[in-house]
Amino acid sequence: MSKRLANIAWETFSALPLTEKTSFLMQSDGAPYHTLFAQQFDYALLDQLATLANEIRAIAKTRVGAEFLSQQVTHKRAMLYFSQPSSRTFLSFVSACQILGVQTGEVRDTAISSEFKGESREDSVRTFSSYFDLIIMRTPEKGLAEHMAWVLSNSDRPIPIINAGSGQDQHPTQALLDIYTLLRSFERGGGLRDKTVVFCGDLLRGRTVRSLSYLLTNYPNVRQLFVAPEPLQVGTDVLAILEQKGVPFARTDDFHAAIREADAVYMTRIQDEWDNAKGESAAIDTHRFKFGLDELALLPPRAIIMHPLPRRDEIVTAVDGDPRAMYWRQMRNGMWIRTALIAMTFGCEKRIHDYFRHNN
Ligand code: NCD
Repeated sequence: MSKRLANIAWETFSALPLTEKTSFLMQSDGAPYHTLFAQQFDYALLDQLATLANEIRAIAKTRVGAEFLSQQVTHKRAMLYFSQPSSRTFLSFVSACQILGVQTGEVRDTAISSEFKGESREDSVRTFSSYFDLIIMRTPEKGLAEHMAWVLSNSDRPIPIINAGSGQDQHPTQALLDIYTLLRSFERGGGLRDKTVVFCGDLLRGRTVRSLSYLLTNYPNVRQLFVAPEPLQVGTDVLAILEQKGVPFARTDDFHAAIREADAVYMTRIQDEWDNAKGESAAIDTHRFKFGLDELALLPPRAIIMHPLPRRDEIVTAVDGDPRAMYWRQMRNGMWIRTALIAMTFGCEKRIHDYFRHNN
């Protein structure tokens, strides 16, 4: 049974552990209403989303199919509220909305919005909810999407929020597209079970790592290896979850040994925008945590290389042509899985299944 976020005080809700928060965020049929955390997605829901994304991408291949999809959510408008830099997440959400016929508006620069005049975030978001039916938001603040979801659910115009990246904390839709990429890549290789996923780079401040690490715990016996220089190693809160769930994991700085055991290598950028002092990240020796041609030679033949992008120099471009380099396909997968998420949020999953069954 889903509980309503409107029936709980903010102080009570915000103090709950994540696993207890999730039931307040789902619709009664199990679809997400607000999408805020990776913890909202279990094995069954991930499977449902991946199936829907596969159907959507198949339907979209023909003109009549694309036209069918573009009629599904024409009665809704989405606001993209991005107060942090973004190219692909922003564009993939815009594209996902376009595929379903959702019209979009955007605020990307708070210097030209009323926040510049001193308006609170709460008031800004309530303003958006007067004109739109969904808010997709990216912010540097950790808990803001969660708080806004509560504010909206307790307003006279409750509308859903999708978290498109919240500080260093969570990036649930990136984790969805990462899981979707892994599922597709291992479709003919025994599925996403008994695999080793190697995370490398800035694991402390990378929100994509935090969200994906959690989602992977939904799959049986998926080992997680965390490869980073000590100051950028993954947080103990992430490890505590893995321990509690009995997931095999290890922390190491031996990238080459980890690559030899990998089914997937997930590279990340050094997130120096979070440095406390200027040059803090630059002082860390990261040269052993990059993926070049030597690393490619160590990678097992059926393993894949992933990256949430944007990249700097942590994967050399010479690797791009290798069939195991999955990051460009991974990015396009993001458009399909976000389309599936929006379709599910607005309850048009069944119509898409029916169309697929009759036409594909
Ligand atoms: C990531 C992010 O914003 O966390 N980018 C993305 O959404 N694909 C990763 C990053 O910025 O390094």
